[in-house]
Amino acid sequence: MEFYEAAGVDAALGETPVDRFHAPEPVAATARPVAAAPPVPPPAPVQATLPNAQKTDEPAQGLADAQALAAGANTLDALRAALEGFDGCGLKKTARQLVFADGNPGAKIMLIGEAPGRDEDAQGLPFVGRSGQLLDKMLAAIGLDRSTVYIGNVIYWRPPGNRTPTPDERALCEPFIRRQIELVNPKVMMTLGGSALSTLFEVRQGIMKTRGQTLTYAHGTLSVPSVPTLHPAALLRNPINKRLAWQDLLMLQRLIEETGAL
Ligand code: URA
Repeated sequence: MEFYEAAGVDAALGETPVDRFHAPEPVAATARPVAAAPPVPPPAPVQATLPNAQKTDEPAQGLADAQALAAGANTLDALRAALEGFDGCGLKKTARQLVFADGNPGAKIMLIGEAPGRDEDAQGLPFVGRSGQLLDKMLAAIGLDRSTVYIGNVIYWRPPGNRTPTPDERALCEPFIRRQIELVNPKVMMTLGGSALSTLFEVRQGIMKTRGQTLTYAHGTLSVPSVPTLHPAALLRNPINKRLAWQDLLMLQRLIEETGAL
């Protein structure tokens, strides 16, 4: 287990363990030897992707379900229940549980990250691992904490091994996070990292080039000033960039004052 942990393998993807030391003998080894066996044709190419009908229809149906479920939820509790009942996103199968939100649902400051990691998956709350501890310090630096902000993610289930969510997975979760923002109705938002930024905004460039300015989150009747900043996990990897995040936090603080979000 230690070896696997060190190698970054921290998620079991199959239901039953496979003992590869006692795998059954290959059939060819026990078969009667044949003098001049006819040449074995090369294996048919493995179909790496779903047949077309499935490839296009399944995500489309999932997306239609996601949109209908999200639109039909009129409270945050109803939205959480809708997500609990939604089976259209494959991540749900490998995750332990839904990670919906943390913080104060009545807060007017909303923070949005990417996806739950191992600790979040275990506890069912966003940003409770190492990035969460850094996030708490970032918030404290401008006088905020989890009683004054509401925190969510653009993906609701942990991707196995913390891999990057696929475009399909992001698309399937998008109606829910957009509805969640609508229901919270924040006065100010902050996106953490490139995933949240590119899911919620039509930006042409990545986080490093986009941060440093206020964007407007425009959706339905909402128009919310939003500060894009670096993801705390990225700051843990490159602490030199904390100075950029500090500038972004000051920008958020100014917006909070201007909008009376606190
Ligand atoms: N990273 C995120 O983006 N969200 C979490 O909840 C935890 C880590």
